[in-house]
Amino acid sequence: MSQTRNGTNSGNESRFHGNGASNGNGSHGDHGSSPIPRSPLFKKCDTFDKAEALRRVGMYPYFRMIESAQDTEVTIDGRRMIMLGSNSYMGLTNDPRVKEAAKAAVERYGSGCAGSRFLNGTLDIHVQLEEEIADYLGKEAAIVFTTGYQANLGVISALTGREDNVFIDRTDHASIVDGARLGFGRVHKFLHNDVSDLDRMLGNSNSRGKLVVVDGIYSMEGDIANLPEIVKVARRHEAAILVDDAHAIGVLGNQGRGTADHFNLTDEVEVIAGTFSKSLASIGGYVGADKSIIDFLRHHARSLIFSASMAPACVAATQKALQIIKEEPERREKLWANTEFLRTGLQSLGFDTGESETPIIPVVVGDSERCFLIWRALHEAGVFVNPVVAPATPANRALIRFSVMATHTTEQITEALEIIEKSMKSLGAMPATA
Ligand SMILES: Cc1ncc(COP(=O)(O)O)c(C=O)c1O
Repeated sequence: MSQTRNGTNSGNESRFHGNGASNGNGSHGDHGSSPIPRSPLFKKCDTFDKAEALRRVGMYPYFRMIESAQDTEVTIDGRRMIMLGSNSYMGLTNDPRVKEAAKAAVERYGSGCAGSRFLNGTLDIHVQLEEEIADYLGKEAAIVFTTGYQANLGVISALTGREDNVFIDRTDHASIVDGARLGFGRVHKFLHNDVSDLDRMLGNSNSRGKLVVVDGIYSMEGDIANLPEIVKVARRHEAAILVDDAHAIGVLGNQGRGTADHFNLTDEVEVIAGTFSKSLASIGGYVGADKSIIDFLRHHARSLIFSASMAPACVAATQKALQIIKEEPERREKLWANTEFLRTGLQSLGFDTGESETPIIPVVVGDSERCFLIWRALHEAGVFVNPVVAPATPANRALIRFSVMATHTTEQITEALEIIEKSMKSLGAMPATA
């Protein structure tokens, strides 16, 4: 309904309320008498029923509404649940110091930056954070993006032109796959953490520039990239290396500096990317490298230039979380103790935890239906975990993804293990060996 300047109706309701009158342009407004033809474009939407089929049988595990902070326990439907499905590995998303820093940034800088880093959206705290991140990673320079997804899109697509090839691990994160697709370079996928397959592919390539991209810690199975061997192979073929440390920052290496630091290979890995959305308790992404690479990205990474910058609260929360991570090594020690406790607990119940060496612990259950059944039993019993099915895993390797936080208490993990055992027994899903 349109309004005149003095706020009264302009008297043209009939255009919208179904008496068949035309709205003047012949196509919109009167849906009753002349529905717009359904475009074939929407056929896939109209026939998509996988989600609804799961909802019908109470096994839809996505978009669960959490009514509390992302912490070791959360509230869902008014019910307490033990959170074993969060990426807040250092347990800082609800830390009062981090929240205070975010509040103070809102007071000083407002709620957003209303523009991209390139034009009006660079604050002094963005630049400070870049200096802090570069120093932390042991790189000359860094640049921060609004999300980790955008960091990968920006860095990979900007670095790889038509004459270049990108070599990605088959189980690399979707943002790496998308970044590689967005660039003009040819993309090769090597078998997961299989250095001889990578070696073979690099050997077969006669492209000008070669970029190998791996996750530091793999997000679904919790295994660590075989960086020492990857570096050797990459050097042999004059390939550059980009490590996405989304899950490793704060977790691996001295003071949580990540996978390259963990293997003492910081100088061998030209580019390190990652996110602030996990251990760093915020939202944002980063890339660290030498000055010329970072300056190039500043002027060529489209996901940086054409998207609004990190909100002030997110920048300040990240800075505070980073400070805490550096100053409180006991947090990381507790994270690793909790990791060990949960993994050995699950293993002693007979579960297959794959190759996990980190706070991401998969329980491999096989087919997706079984996975959703187990997920539902755990959800109903008060344990929050994430089911992972194909294509995020190979077919018949569906898994329940557990993840641990530094702030979990031993009592919480013990309680979760008891619930898991009881639920699996009542479902008849205990492994044969147990
Ligand atoms: C390995 C990896 N890279 C990148 C990202 C994207 O990070 P963000 O959540 O900041 O977009 C994720 C997030 O799930 C991830 O797991």
